[in-house]
Amino acid sequence: MKVSIIGAGYVGLVTGVCLAEKGHQVVCVDVNQERVEKINQAISPIYERGLEGLLKKNIKVNLEATTNLYKSIVETEISLIAVGTPFVNNEIDLTYIKEVSHQIGQALKEKSTYHLVVIKSTVVPGTTDTVVLPILEKASGKKAGIHFGVAMNPEFLREGEAIQDFMFPDRIILGGMDEKSIEILGKLYCSFDRVDTLRTNNKTAEMIKYTSNSLLATMISFSNEIGNLCASIGDIDVVDVMKGVHLDKRLSPIMPDGKRVVPSFTAYLEAGCGFGGSCFPKDVKALIAHGKKFGSQMRLLDAVIQINEQQPGQILLILKKHFPVLSGIRIAVLGLSFKPNTDDLRESPSIPIVKYLIEQNAIVKAYDPIAGHEAYQLFGDTIEFCNDLGQTIKDVQAIVLLTRWEEFKKIPEMMIHLNTQPLFIDGRRMLDKYHIKRYEGIGL
Ligand code: UDX
Ligand code: ADP
Repeated sequence: MKVSIIGAGYVGLVTGVCLAEKGHQVVCVDVNQERVEKINQAISPIYERGLEGLLKKNIKVNLEATTNLYKSIVETEISLIAVGTPFVNNEIDLTYIKEVSHQIGQALKEKSTYHLVVIKSTVVPGTTDTVVLPILEKASGKKAGIHFGVAMNPEFLREGEAIQDFMFPDRIILGGMDEKSIEILGKLYCSFDRVDTLRTNNKTAEMIKYTSNSLLATMISFSNEIGNLCASIGDIDVVDVMKGVHLDKRLSPIMPDGKRVVPSFTAYLEAGCGFGGSCFPKDVKALIAHGKKFGSQMRLLDAVIQINEQQPGQILLILKKHFPVLSGIRIAVLGLSFKPNTDDLRESPSIPIVKYLIEQNAIVKAYDPIAGHEAYQLFGDTIEFCNDLGQTIKDVQAIVLLTRWEEFKKIPEMMIHLNTQPLFIDGRRMLDKYHIKRYEGIGL
């Protein structure tokens, strides 16, 4: 199919590159000229495993980038809107969605053939039907359901695994205003064999995305609350508690051969210093605000956010137990991105932690395998950035691990060679507590 994708950010670019790989003719549209040029030169503007390889393979073959939205709409049969939907002033900000809908509507005015407009961005239930559709009708002077269709197709892409998640999806949600819209949207995914596909209306598709992310965020905050309780009671390790919980056969089913299936779901039932990223915090907050508009108190999700916002404080509590005055204390912070395999710092627990340490005049060294550059934009020269793990943990009084980077597995071995043993705080309960001398951790 001839596809235009509006917004070549994280979601749009991954989607565009993967759809091109699947054989569609794709044009990625973005207002950012520099981004467009990079894409056309096969340079990925974002770090995502496997993305640049696929970009190199498909660019100028069946993928191109442009700033010309009008031409892209006229020359394609289906458009996916993948612009950002930030959370601003306690609600979802639909500015970009509205702008793009208006521009697409104007282009549709000139188009004689049927066109399908698909919302890929995460938007609160009702947005596609009651915000996007009327804007398209007004700007085009045409009628939805006759001259064009409107559909909703949420993404479930984990950062760092986005290419895999797109190429081998666990589900495809096809929301649409009518049968025709769903039918055409379905054609985009016709080469995805044997994937569970759910056909529904736009509002339900929108709600599925929020519900999925809210469930995962709830499990994390639940685990963190339990972890904090374990630490308060004493003599209980949350890691063992959660291991015991994971052994529930309803969480990890036992197969007829006696072996257990360990679903990746259980990875969200582990205590740590909190969730971050571009989705969980923003989406849960947007759903809470939306729910309240409809008279739902959203007490559970309110608590999920509250627990998460306080969770980085647990690291500081442990630190202050050992160093009541942090001024002048040399601290190594390991991991700055909100999770491994990404350079994304958005809503990362490392941000409030490092900010607090700076405020308290601690002397901070930090290391992240790839997010150092992004972090420098944020912290500048207020902390020292190291290029190497060994150098970071040398001559410090405390080490704080905040991201589960694979590289950090070698820390216990590296620490053996240190002259004096610093305090070690495991914010992700990643390492074996018996392998590090002065080990402390969340939920311990
Ligand atoms: C998420 C969803 O998984 C994806 O389907 C959706 O489309 C976008 O949002 P992502 O933001 O990449 O993807 O994050 P994910 O890998 O799901 O993890 C999110 C956060 O949870 C990370 O900060 C991670 O550190 C944290 N986490 C995870 C915990 O704090 N504890 C855990 O037990 C598991
Ligand atoms: P996400 O993480 O949801 O993919 P991003 O912020 O990474 O969001 O990407 C959104 C992209 O959309 C950015 O590259 C931005 O330049 C682009 N964008 C915003 N408004 C428009 C517009 N009116 N037309 C085309 N692209 C747009």
